[in-house]
Amino acid sequence: MIASDMGHQGRFGKYGETKRLGRLRQAGTRTSSHQESRATQAKQRPSPGGVGRKGGRVRIREALASDADFVGRLSGRVFRVYGPYRETVSQWFHSGQAITLIAHRGGNPVGFAMFSHGSPDSIPRRHSELLAIAVLPEEHRTGIGQRLLGEAERSAAEHHVTRLFLHTAGENLSAVGLFEKSGYHPVELKTHFYPAGQDALLMFKDLPPARDGRHA
Ligand SMILES: CC(C)(COP(=O)(O)OP(=O)(O)OC[C@H]1O[C@@H](n2cnc3c(N)ncnc32)[C@H](O)[C@@H]1OP(=O)(O)O)[C@@H](O)C(=O)NCCC(=O)NCCS
Repeated sequence: MIASDMGHQGRFGKYGETKRLGRLRQAGTRTSSHQESRATQAKQRPSPGGVGRKGGRVRIREALASDADFVGRLSGRVFRVYGPYRETVSQWFHSGQAITLIAHRGGNPVGFAMFSHGSPDSIPRRHSELLAIAVLPEEHRTGIGQRLLGEAERSAAEHHVTRLFLHTAGENLSAVGLFEKSGYHPVELKTHFYPAGQDALLMFKDLPPARDGRHA
């Protein structure tokens, strides 16, 4: 599970997750015109490969407002060992300060990735944070997580992000494996970072420029 400092640009690692929850709750109470407008202009990404265990092509698109329930339920399922993340990730989803991508097969969502973006009228962030990434447990190890992460990085680069940070529990071997394989470097171990007490590893990756050079 990943944490956010969405209200303080660039101050990664200054606050533990418990202190952050209050600010994120405040962000979650604001109306999310950002998410709504994104929902209306959701983009479908072409998705070469991506055949999951059940067969059929997995596609990735920006989230619609109607994906909120899936994102909340999956977060509750896979992150509850770290704290009240069904609520927290739902607040991020609605905050207007995060961009969420959905992996789906046909009409059925199978995973999501979310990164912080800042409010639509703020100066674009150069450093951003991958807030959460999750795949349905029955779909694990079929390549969906890696594809979601790649699309999140591409989308972040298109939004002028040059460096993506993330926090993940040091004991979360599947996540650490995914991030190491994808080129993330560990920079700090934060003790008792999560509400349930686990330590977090802070990692980062410098993103290549978007193909059209928008973040250069
Ligand atoms: C972490 C997570 C998103 C990975 O998604 P996934 O679709 O299963 O991962 P992929 O199939 O794309 O695997 C990509 C790479 O990640 C690593 N990996 C994935 N699962 C792993 C596991 N159980 N053990 C070790 N490495 C693992 C491997 O390097 C793998 O490459 P490989 O299959 O060629 O060896 C998924 O396990 C998940 O949803 N976990 C619960 C939520 C979570 O912990 N999220 C991360 C913190 S926010």
